[in-house]
Amino acid sequence: MNRISRRIGGIAESATLAVDAKAKALKAAGEDVIGFGAGEPDFPTPPHIVDAAIAACRDPKNHHYTPVGGLPELRSAIAVKTKRDSGFDCTAANILVTNGGKQAVYNTFATLLDPGDEVLVPAPYWTTYPEAIVLAGGVPVEIATDVRSGFRVSLDQLEAARTPRTKALLFVSPSNPTGAVYPPDEVEAIGQWAVEHGVWVVTDEIYEHLTFDGHEFTSVATAVPDLADTCVILNGVAKTYAMTGWRVGWMIGPTDVATAANNLQSHQTSNVCNVAQAAALACLEPQGAFYCFPSFEGVMGRTIAGRTIDSSMVLADVVLSEAKVAFVPGEAFGAPGYGRFSFALGDDDLGEGLTRLATLLS
Ligand SMILES: Cc1ncc(COP(=O)(O)O)c(C=O)c1O
Repeated sequence: MNRISRRIGGIAESATLAVDAKAKALKAAGEDVIGFGAGEPDFPTPPHIVDAAIAACRDPKNHHYTPVGGLPELRSAIAVKTKRDSGFDCTAANILVTNGGKQAVYNTFATLLDPGDEVLVPAPYWTTYPEAIVLAGGVPVEIATDVRSGFRVSLDQLEAARTPRTKALLFVSPSNPTGAVYPPDEVEAIGQWAVEHGVWVVTDEIYEHLTFDGHEFTSVATAVPDLADTCVILNGVAKTYAMTGWRVGWMIGPTDVATAANNLQSHQTSNVCNVAQAAALACLEPQGAFYCFPSFEGVMGRTIAGRTIDSSMVLADVVLSEAKVAFVPGEAFGAPGYGRFSFALGDDDLGEGLTRLATLLS
């Protein structure tokens, strides 16, 4: 008999969190590390949000259990925010507040998937998606994209990957790790393809406000209203409001899905910390993914600091030890040869980090 179950023993540690932990440990040891690894803003949560949390700490009503699905006022605020930012109509009954967007991902796949159900996952993908799908008994079906296609999946690719077991498509735009944003016509075409073939769309909209250079976020749920009954929206406060440590996210789905996920959560974590929910309530205003995903093709095969760079994993290790710059290797996202750089850093660190990288690689 295994000491660790096969189901859990097969899960790899989150590569993004591992790189971040290594960079933070080097920093704590006094090394001057510049971290492009963690997917989080490096500034504090805005003071008015922290103040709301302090007030919530002092209110005894927050010292007790509250509804599993989230504080009613927060769920209402999420419904209003979703209409305002994505144009999507929903009510509190469609919303489940979760411990970060990550739990929303897990709850969604656990709620939707039966053993053997396939989920189309365009690669490069955020490292947690395949693990969450597998844990729920599903089968992630990777669809490769690359820099030539702007890291965007095409309808032909989706159609080629579709089988009778295809239950859902995981869609994320703006994307982690690539930063790619699908234009509105492509979002609509993908949504329509999904409706036509009865494929659910799980759309991760956590980077909705972080677009640049005229690229705009389009919610597939709004672009294709017929998708409403077979679509789950994932979102949260972590990225937009510099609140990664507060752990507040949510999922929005048809009421049967939201109710079933609520039932799951009632045996799993109960309500999200009330103080963190009060902080989330204070922040639901828009701002703007903060990743770039360069190719390191030109560096492969070179020798740097006595090591042959034969993968982006080796490169990330060498860059961290030699230049004290942390980034997450593309292997973690199903894209060897690339690296993910989070640029939610101050300008000085951004400049210094890139200078160090350029010096080491030039
Ligand atoms: C694409 C994507 N979705 C969801 C999340 C979850 O964020 P959190 O659990 O911190 O709310 C992340 C975090 O890195 C992410 O990159």
